[in-house]
Amino acid sequence: MDIRAELKDLMQNKNYSMTYVATATGLAKSTISMWLNGNYNGKNDKITDAIHNFIQREVERSANKDLPFVDITIVKYISEIARLCHTQGKIGVCVGKAGLGKTVAVKKYISEFLDSILIESDSGYTAKSLLKEIHRRLGLSGKGSVYDLMDEVVRKLNQSGRLLIIDEAENLPYRALEITRRIHDKTGVGVLLIGRSILLENLKGFNNQYDQLYSRVKYTKILDKLLFEDVEKILNAIGLNSKLADTYLRYSDGNTRRLEHLISHSISIAKFNGNAEVDDAVIKETSKLLMA
Ligand SMILES: Nc1ncnc2c1ncn2[C@@H]1O[C@H](COP(=O)(O)OP(=O)(O)O)[C@@H](O)[C@H]1O
Ligand SMILES: [Mg+2]
Repeated sequence: MDIRAELKDLMQNKNYSMTYVATATGLAKSTISMWLNGNYNGKNDKITDAIHNFIQREVERSANKDLPFVDITIVKYISEIARLCHTQGKIGVCVGKAGLGKTVAVKKYISEFLDSILIESDSGYTAKSLLKEIHRRLGLSGKGSVYDLMDEVVRKLNQSGRLLIIDEAENLPYRALEITRRIHDKTGVGVLLIGRSILLENLKGFNNQYDQLYSRVKYTKILDKLLFEDVEKILNAIGLNSKLADTYLRYSDGNTRRLEHLISHSISIAKFNGNAEVDDAVIKETSKLLMA
């Protein structure tokens, strides 16, 4: 579906006003209307991106509403490596496919260890904007030259025993990664970089030319798929029969987000077919629909 039609659908289905969309996306109402009608003369890509992100968040939110936090193995792995980096002041890297549950796990960690700082990076980050964000997160102004920002960040973090977590760190250009290494070197704070597998390649650089950074990494964890017992835990948490764990694991390919969608859609499809309960056949049928 065209993204404009998608937004119109969403607004209609959820009864969202233009004001709501404007607030949620940070765009002006007039910009959105012009964009919707194809009359916007500014940077259309920027608007399309913002709207796309908004739709994505909405889809996730509606699919998520039934799944409570579950203590799956990914949570254990991430909190273990975070704890090591935090207490020992080391650099760690944790990578895995999108949708595994990395962000949920780091958020759980920061909710327990309040002296950790989580930066959720995006592809717009430069070395300076990362530094500004860290500066702001330390209660400072976020303003100044790179030199001043660095100086103040270092002073504030020096020997503080805090942990700096950067999520989606594969988005950072090398110079921004290098900034985190310098902060670590000068202050002794732990750093945990989280991202997709490409992050490891970014850290090493082509032909390993960035050895200076990669050689500092003390802990690395590569996350794979959900385990059978994780799926059992998730099913238990929402009151579904754990007999289905094997089938759910197979058709979700061990991916948490995919499993979540598979569960919610299979429940709807079972209901639609007039069955009280989900069975293996419904899961299989649902997974075909989700693939399409
Ligand atoms: N521990 C968990 N308990 C419950 N749901 C989870 C858990 N981890 C992940 N999920 C679900 O899977 C989705 C993807 O997780 P997320 O942390 O965003 O993945 P990643 O950061 O690895 O791409 C989340 O939106 C959430 O609904
Ligand atoms: Mg994430």
